[in-house]
Amino acid sequence: MAEKEKQNIAVLLEEKRVFNPPEDLVRNSNVKKWMDEHGIKSYEELLEKAKDIEWFWAEVAKDVVEWYEPYKKVLEWNPPYAEWFVGAKYNIVHDALDKHMETDVKDKVAYIFEGEPGDTKQLTYHDLYVEVNKLANALKELGIKKGDRVGIYLPMIPELPIAMLACAKIGAIHSVVFSGFSALALRDRINDCEAKAVITCDSFYRRGNKVALKKQADEALEDAPSVEHCIVYRRTGDEVPWNEGRDLWWHDIVKDQPEECETEKMDANDPLYFLYTSGTTGKPKGIIHRHGGYAVGIATTLKWVFDLKKNDVWWCAADVGWVTGHSYIVYAPLILGVTSVIYEGAPNYPEPDRWWEIIEKYKVSVLYTSPTSIRLFMRYGEEWVNKHNLSSLRLLGSVGEPINPEAWIWYHKNIGKEKCPIMDTWWQTETGHFLITPLPITPLKPGSATKPFPGIQADVFDENGKSITNAGGNLVILKPWPGMLKGLYKAPERYKETYWSKFKDVYLAGDVARKDEDGYFWIQGRADDVLNVSGHRIGNSEVESALVSHPKVAEAAVVGKPHELKGEAIVAFVALKSGVEPSEELKKELREHVGVQMGKIARPDEIWFVNDLPKTRSGKIMRRVIRAKALGQDVGDTSTLANPEAVEEISKAV
Ligand code: WT7
Repeated sequence: MAEKEKQNIAVLLEEKRVFNPPEDLVRNSNVKKWMDEHGIKSYEELLEKAKDIEWFWAEVAKDVVEWYEPYKKVLEWNPPYAEWFVGAKYNIVHDALDKHMETDVKDKVAYIFEGEPGDTKQLTYHDLYVEVNKLANALKELGIKKGDRVGIYLPMIPELPIAMLACAKIGAIHSVVFSGFSALALRDRINDCEAKAVITCDSFYRRGNKVALKKQADEALEDAPSVEHCIVYRRTGDEVPWNEGRDLWWHDIVKDQPEECETEKMDANDPLYFLYTSGTTGKPKGIIHRHGGYAVGIATTLKWVFDLKKNDVWWCAADVGWVTGHSYIVYAPLILGVTSVIYEGAPNYPEPDRWWEIIEKYKVSVLYTSPTSIRLFMRYGEEWVNKHNLSSLRLLGSVGEPINPEAWIWYHKNIGKEKCPIMDTWWQTETGHFLITPLPITPLKPGSATKPFPGIQADVFDENGKSITNAGGNLVILKPWPGMLKGLYKAPERYKETYWSKFKDVYLAGDVARKDEDGYFWIQGRADDVLNVSGHRIGNSEVESALVSHPKVAEAAVVGKPHELKGEAIVAFVALKSGVEPSEELKKELREHVGVQMGKIARPDEIWFVNDLPKTRSGKIMRRVIRAKALGQDVGDTSTLANPEAVEEISKAV
């Protein structure tokens, strides 16, 4: 083992603030109700009881899913493979749609859609049910059967969930490709899973322009031999190139279809979808998720963490193209029968207050977004927020990256008006649902995702597999969980190697984290991004956090560069708030600021000012690309990159 890897990661930033949850929130929360029903008196007791994971997950499953045929065994664990609810017959669409046709939920709004140009549409659960059935019937007519793969390349319009649900209903496996991805990224993904059909649209609105999606799909399909049909939804009415025999209009194929379609009775462990990870590191992996355990995991976590009730209006502002959208825009909210918002466009179009306008207009009560978006809004300033009445909000959420305390406090103060707790949820495409997250009953520490969800056992291991406290190390999950991936499509060796080879029968998340004396987890970033300065391993996110805590800084990315004496030198790329002039003095000031916050060891050796940082299309900073650019190396796979201009800026800066 290299010397660098043996050392634990230094803890240089300490956040001491604690925010207790509002009493009425605790009293009326879904989790508290469940605890009362089960004679559980405290959060600690809940976590303790739920250590019996088979009991816990079987017990909560009763509240969220209905099996066609009961399971024979709660869990079968043959490391590294887990099967939950073994032997059950099930289809997630039964819980997402079919069961609601028997209750009041039938006429409730499932999706409030707002297009970027301002067009709106509301679909009730019944509307959605009918649309899904018609498309499902049409897919069957085209010869799509249980187990077949269907590529979906659609923007944020209700037809995206409709297409996913239609596939799932007939037992086909969907593979959604984010609409911001290029033709080549689409081609790789549909070829990897050998999709039989692709569903797309003519074009869609983005930042006042139209994106010609069908044209891009055509380019991908030039070399995608498995694809027999391309189904095209008409979103804008733009003219599109047409391939006679292969292409079909959505509205034509659904027109004469019956409004009922029988839901395929699947095995609980049959695949529901494939999803390729966003790939901040290396070649995308095809993650496989299933119907049964996944449904239990996503619905329970959403119900408890975001405390969703009948009258809530839920807005998960992610894209359905990511796992966040799959789990928490499509499947979980539908299982719970809540109303969700879907917004098509850019967050700052036509003005930086579009989101706040949407929240006010639809009385959104729970907002779930990412630190990147929060930092974007911080950059625009509070004026844009204060133009709107956000009093409908009662809870907030964050996901995707460590949220630096600065952004946490801004979000809490300006969006939540100091009355909405922030649920900082840690999870991954692989995990399917939140694993480390607060509940409404959890005292919060800004910047910490707090504790494992009940039924989840997480820890921090040093390089020898020893549990450590108050030192940075490998974040691991000790026991299987219901939404756990089934594996990687056609890559069993990579599955074992990536997640299960470092420690025996323990899931390696690939993140570095610290667990404090109260058992709170502080995620420090991806293990690949950790710096090694004079023998100290320093989490990049801590240095970034320290930089962002300076009033003139909007965003920062920190990477290591080989250094003869120190091992690695710290190189920081900094985007300043609007109106701030870059200068050599400011560089000095920032260096000293980090020194004061974290100690001299963490002071950046080099600081470069840039307008923007290279990010994945899901908003994560691509440090791998920044590092390669800073070192003049080949940047590798950039198919997931959102803003190539920012990469050029990095090259120019250094
Ligand atoms: C990686 C997973 C899971 C939905 C979106 C991302 C980072 C995620 C947090 C959080 C700190 C976080 C981790 C993780 N991450 N949530 N609350 N705090 N880091 O899915 O693309 O599979 O990325 O995102 O590094 O491993 P993903």
